[in-house]
Amino acid sequence: MMPKAFPKLFGTLVNLREILINDAQDITHLLMNYNVSKHLWEIPNPYSIDDALEFIKCANSDFNTLKALHFAIESKIIPRSRNNLKFVGTISVKNIDLVNKKADLGYWIGEQYWGRGIATECLKLIIDYAFSAELGLKQLCAYVFPENKASIRVLEKNGMNKIGVVNEYHKLSGRDRTSFIYVTIRHSDNA
Ligand SMILES: CC(C)(COP(=O)(O)OP(=O)(O)OC[C@H]1O[C@@H](n2cnc3c(N)ncnc32)[C@H](O)[C@@H]1OP(=O)(O)O)[C@@H](O)C(=O)NCCC(=O)NCCS
Repeated sequence: MMPKAFPKLFGTLVNLREILINDAQDITHLLMNYNVSKHLWEIPNPYSIDDALEFIKCANSDFNTLKALHFAIESKIIPRSRNNLKFVGTISVKNIDLVNKKADLGYWIGEQYWGRGIATECLKLIIDYAFSAELGLKQLCAYVFPENKASIRVLEKNGMNKIGVVNEYHKLSGRDRTSFIYVTIRHSDNA
């Protein structure tokens, strides 16, 4: 079942909340960095404010059509910006299939915030939520480029297992790209 209001998830290092129009500048700034975008399937380089605004629009309609939940990651450990917690990245449950209880995961953190355990905690929060009674999913999948050792580590630290390899045409680079497929399944109906 999809929630009626956009969920908010609370961790030790981060909170996850709905992405807002005010996040457009932070998203643009952090995704302009090729060290981040080169690991992501759909993020063009250069990345513009219009790309961010389009993403936020899609994030809203994806929630309304039950296709995806795209969360803003707010850090509780990095000094605040104005009155808000610092925006450091996004994490999504995408391609939600409520019939087969499956979805895909996607995430990125701004480069200056890497190496502090943020992605590891975000993934744990989102897996727990996706498997909770509220969302009720049973299988989550993530695609990662083989050279993305940090992301592979984060997936494995969260108990995800490599189940295969795919080779698919990648529109942004105009060539085939290999990805590893990682999966986690809910083991108990009480989870
Ligand atoms: C992958 C990414 C999300 C990790 O975020 P993060 O907040 O730095 O992750 P964490 O700090 O929670 O954990 C990173 C882990 O990777 C390890 N790591 C980092 N670089 C590594 C490397 N080159 N080789 C092996 N392990 C590496 C870290 O040591 C850490 O593991 P540890 O806790 O056992 O020491 C971030 O680097 C990122 O946004 N990259 C670009 C976008 C991306 O790759 N998204 C995922 C697409 S599948």
